[in-house]
Amino acid sequence: MKSIRQPLAFLILGLSGAMSHAAEPAQIKPVHAVDPVHPAIAATKATDGKTIFQSVCAQCHGAKGEGKIEMKTPSIAGMPSWYVTTQFANFREGRRGQNAADAQPFMMASIAKALQPEQVKAVIEHVEKMPLVVPTGKDRAMANVDTGEGMRLFQERCMECHRYNASGEMAFGSPPLIGRQAWYLEEQLKRFKAGKRGAIKNDVNGAKMVQMTTLFIEDEQMLRNVVAYIMTLNPDPEATPEEQKRQIIEGSPFESASR
Ligand code: HEC
Ligand code: HEC
Repeated sequence: MKSIRQPLAFLILGLSGAMSHAAEPAQIKPVHAVDPVHPAIAATKATDGKTIFQSVCAQCHGAKGEGKIEMKTPSIAGMPSWYVTTQFANFREGRRGQNAADAQPFMMASIAKALQPEQVKAVIEHVEKMPLVVPTGKDRAMANVDTGEGMRLFQERCMECHRYNASGEMAFGSPPLIGRQAWYLEEQLKRFKAGKRGAIKNDVNGAKMVQMTTLFIEDEQMLRNVVAYIMTLNPDPEATPEEQKRQIIEGSPFESASR
C-alpha cells in the first residue's frame, strides 16, 4: 500500500492545465466517414431523443438504459449530458473505440459515428432524464474483495475528482460511478491501466485516469477492492427515484459521520 502515501502535489501540478480544459463542454462535430458496420442504424431518421433511444440504443443498453452483461454494455440511464457528450465526441473522433480488436468500444464508436449531430444531442438529453438504474445481482456481486481497503483507496485517491459519494464532478470531467455495473467499472479501470483507453493524444480527461490507475492501482486485487467500495455508495435499488436522490446526496457513511 506504499503508493497510497505518495504526495499528490506533483500530480495536481501536472493536471492543472488539463483541468482548466475540462470545463469547456465538448462539441459534437459532423463525421464524414460513416462506418458501414451498422447501415440500418445510420438510416435512422428520427430526431426526438426518446425514439432514437428506443430504436437504436435500447437493443444494446436495454429499454431502461440498464445495460446488459451479455453484451458488456454499461448502464447509462441518468448519465449527465456533459459526460455523454464528451464520450460521444471521443467515440466519433477516434479517441475511444478506435481499435477494431477491442470489440465493445469499437462497436459503440460505429454507432456514435452513424448518427447526425442533432440526433446525438437529442438522445443525450433523453438519457440524462432516464431514472438511474442501481446495479443488483450479477451486476453488483463481487467475491473475495476487501471493501475497507477499497474505501481507503477511494478516499485518498478517487473522491477528490469523483466526489465522496461517487456522484461525479462536471468541473473535472469525472463521471458518476454509481449506477454503473461492477464488472463494467473493473473493465474500464483495466483499460485505462493498460493504455487501451485514455492514451490517445488530446484525450485530456482519459489521460487523468491513465495516470491514476498506473500510479495508484497496483494490482487486480486493489482494483477490485475499490470497485467493491464504489458499489456500496449506490442508493437502495428498491427506493423511489426521489428517495434515491436523497441517499446519494447524503453519501457515504464516512462522509456523513465526519460532518
Ligand atoms: C451495438 C450495441 C450498442 C448500441 C446500439 C449502442 N451502444 Fe452504447 N455502448 C455499447 C458498448 C458495448 C459500450 C461499452 C464500451 C466500452 O466497453 O468501452 C457502450 C458504451 C456507451 C457509453 C459510454 C458509457 C461510459 O460509462 O463511458 C455511452 C454514453 C453510450 N454507450 C451511449 C449510447 C447511446 C446513447 C446509444 C444510442 C444512440 C448507444 N450507446 C447505442 C454498445 C452499444
Ligand atoms: C484527477 C481527477 C481524477 C481522479 C483523482 C480519479 N478520476 Fe476517475 N475519472 C476522471 C475523469 C476525468 C474521468 C473521465 C474520463 C473520460 O472522459 O474518458 C474518469 C473516469 C473514470 C472511470 C470510467 C467511468 C465510466 O463510466 O466509463 C472510472 C471507473 C474511474 N474514473 C474510477 C476512478 C477511481 C477508482 C479512482 C481512484 C483510484 C479515480 N477514478 C480517480 C478523473 C479522475
